[in-house]
Amino acid sequence: MPSPPPDRDPRRLRSWRWFGPDDLRSFGHRSRLRQMGLAAEDAEGKPVIGILNTWSDLAQCHSHFRARAEEVKRGVWQAGGFPVEIPVLSLSEMFVKPTAMYHRNLLAMEVEEVLRSQPIDGCVLMGGCDKTVPGLLLGAISAGLPALFFPAGPMLAGRYREQRLGSGTDVWKFWAERQAGCLSECAWRQIEEGIARSPGTCMTMGTASTMAAVVETLGLSLPGSATIPAVHSAHARLAGLCGRRIVEMVWEGLTPRRIISRAAFENAIVAAMALCGSTNCIVHLVALARRAGIPLALDDFDRISRVVPVIANLRPAGAHLMEDFHEAGGVPALLSRLRDHLSLDCPTVTGRTLGENIAGAAVLDDDVIRPLDRPLDAAGGTCVLRGSLAPDGCVIKPTAADPRLLVHTGPALVFADYAALKARIDEPDLPVTADTVLVLQSAGPVGAPGMPEWGMLPIPKKLLAAGVRDMVRISDARMSGTSYGTCVLHVAPESAVGGPLALVRDGDSIALDVPARRLDLLVDPAEVARRRAAWQPPPRRVHRGYGRLYLDEVTQAPEGCDFRFLEDGPSTPEPDIF
Ligand code: FES
Repeated sequence: MPSPPPDRDPRRLRSWRWFGPDDLRSFGHRSRLRQMGLAAEDAEGKPVIGILNTWSDLAQCHSHFRARAEEVKRGVWQAGGFPVEIPVLSLSEMFVKPTAMYHRNLLAMEVEEVLRSQPIDGCVLMGGCDKTVPGLLLGAISAGLPALFFPAGPMLAGRYREQRLGSGTDVWKFWAERQAGCLSECAWRQIEEGIARSPGTCMTMGTASTMAAVVETLGLSLPGSATIPAVHSAHARLAGLCGRRIVEMVWEGLTPRRIISRAAFENAIVAAMALCGSTNCIVHLVALARRAGIPLALDDFDRISRVVPVIANLRPAGAHLMEDFHEAGGVPALLSRLRDHLSLDCPTVTGRTLGENIAGAAVLDDDVIRPLDRPLDAAGGTCVLRGSLAPDGCVIKPTAADPRLLVHTGPALVFADYAALKARIDEPDLPVTADTVLVLQSAGPVGAPGMPEWGMLPIPKKLLAAGVRDMVRISDARMSGTSYGTCVLHVAPESAVGGPLALVRDGDSIALDVPARRLDLLVDPAEVARRRAAWQPPPRRVHRGYGRLYLDEVTQAPEGCDFRFLEDGPSTPEPDIF
């Protein structure tokens, strides 16, 4: 047999340590491949590609992933690799409680350890539903093997009679109408039948769509992949392409850390701002950067948001849905309009630069991806605020808010936790007007725990009936990317660790000034000091297992909510005793 070219020498492969040597352990490993019906030429000396699949019967957005995994395998075989499918934690944004965010770091830990402990040379990360994306990537960055993200793709646009429905966004709107007594039960049921019509992720610019777009911009998925609808045949072809490409990435040694850089993260923020993407991506991008030892702070988001126009006309900020975005040219077309804001020489999984990837991309529908001189908003996709109520920062998405409320002072109505909010919000005698500022405590990373998407506090029923559709709402929670309203989120430090949010009382004046980037509690400092002296942390609700680890180690929102011991540090040794 002719020898392989030096760059394809199987002894360069990580998996060679398991299968290559002529010793007792390798005999054991090879004999167990035979047990699975695999001959030497099927597996040995080939890049072993782990296909990390977040499919489960409860992962509704990934219901097509069993078929897609087979298509990825086909690509791996074609390129001379050996595919192995490995199930990893399946996190449905809908079904996992208290919130999938609570388990993001568990998925990340699983991915890192699955990759490091087994004979794997590179991996395809199959994710899409919100937290699966950062969970997979956090683990892959730390594991340090070549990795290619395969996005689940958005589901088809929803339908209700003649209307197109958007995930989440239209649910909130119709629910407000239902609460106000303006929508029948029959109509509500029809919406239930029509809003999620196919496999795939939420098809508004929610967290899943935002994360798919920023990951493509970071250079960790193939160009154009973020927007392909899950049920298109192009999505099946993408799977095969990912399988073929990851084999080459193994031979090239193209790991995530060779791709991501501070410039790449700034590119990702540019994309997020132009999309008016989910505020959740801030937490995830910070966590991803810190895993790689790259400094990224809230102020980077605000600085970029001040100069990047919102040009994607997508719900919840705009009118269209992901299918429209895809047909308009998707992420490459969007980025082609943002060239002047991007570092085009950043490397990507293709082996080419971002600039080379988007060369020739064109916008095919100017109403979906607006020209720079006709944006949805001239700037400010997401703003970062600070002040006496949020010394370490908080965020708001002004494009999704009522412009009248962006400068507002009003009396606080405080809910000590989510249970109190649910119990009281629709009481007929709730002391609330349209000027009231609704405040939710104990909803942050430690307090909830898990920082659930409770930040779009419901408008009290009696105000809905009076025609009110937006109010200023403040919390240490997150908000679904599909949500909207004047919601100040991610207040840090959070109330459960003694942030000023914990000290707000009913009737206190709160001043929000988005143009000035301020959020202040207008209470005499001596009174605030008295309250602080009397403050007691809420009792812990979890005392064992993963929850205990989580509460001991989770960081605050501006630091990405990662675990302290998982952030960048000395690399973990490879298995070396066989
Ligand atoms: Fe899975 Fe929205 S519920 S992406």
